[in-house]
Amino acid sequence: MDPFIQVKGLKYKTKNKNIIDIDDFLVNRGEFVVIMGPNGAGKTSLLRILSLIQKPTEGEVCIKGQKVTNSKQAFSLRRQMTMLFQQPILLGTSTVFENIAYPLKIRGESRDAISDKVDSAMKGFKIAHLSKEKAWSLSGGEARRVSFARALCFEPQALFLDEPFTFIDGWDKKDLLADVYQFIRQKNITAVYVTNQKEEVIEKCDKLVFLHKGRVVQEDIHEHNQPQESFKYNFK
Ligand SMILES: Nc1ncnc2c1ncn2[C@@H]1O[C@H](COP(=O)(O)OP(=O)(O)OP(=O)(O)O)[C@@H](O)[C@H]1O
Ligand SMILES: [Mg+2]
Repeated sequence: MDPFIQVKGLKYKTKNKNIIDIDDFLVNRGEFVVIMGPNGAGKTSLLRILSLIQKPTEGEVCIKGQKVTNSKQAFSLRRQMTMLFQQPILLGTSTVFENIAYPLKIRGESRDAISDKVDSAMKGFKIAHLSKEKAWSLSGGEARRVSFARALCFEPQALFLDEPFTFIDGWDKKDLLADVYQFIRQKNITAVYVTNQKEEVIEKCDKLVFLHKGRVVQEDIHEHNQPQESFKYNFK
């Protein structure tokens, strides 16, 4: 076990509602964790807390064994992580290459390193032919691929995905999910993926967590990197 994110006694409340109430939750380094649950279960809220975007009302969040106590620390840790939401957000008037290069540029990478990493990410996500296109001219599926390449090109330590495939169907979704899965496994990137649909990739995750009314109601764990049997999930 090599804890990457660990939370203890986690509570997130508004004035009249308990949104999250989780005693213990652990994501090990390099694990691919899937969180499922019905609408309003608290999936997005939990993801925002794990990715240090939202501070919990009570409890601890530890990253790599270190308690996150102040916002300066949270900010610097957040730079090592990336989050993708339902809608891809790109800089419309910039090219695909410039969009993907952006996170590398702000991290001060050299021109050569940027060129290598962007090319490799574009190849990995099958969008090399779009390199010079402006982002506004892309189809929805292409824009989604660019947003994944951008999120992953700087090889973040952790990736958080909040139902990023909601508006993609069928074969495209399956193909893109397979590309994302291959990339994160290859680079050993810790990933937490929120979805409310049964998908094939779930069979390959290390941990499947069911959330209901802000609580973990079921947790299925596979030995990381070991051959896996199918999860027996019963999602209503
Ligand atoms: N800032 C907030 N203020 C008040 N209520 C909130 C706030 N954030 C979340 N909630 C409530 O907390 C509950 C959980 O919301 P959350 O968005 O985490 O659910 P979810 O599992 O992601 O749902 P969905 O599948 O619809 O995306 C909901 O009832 C929501 O209305
Ligand atoms: Mg949500």
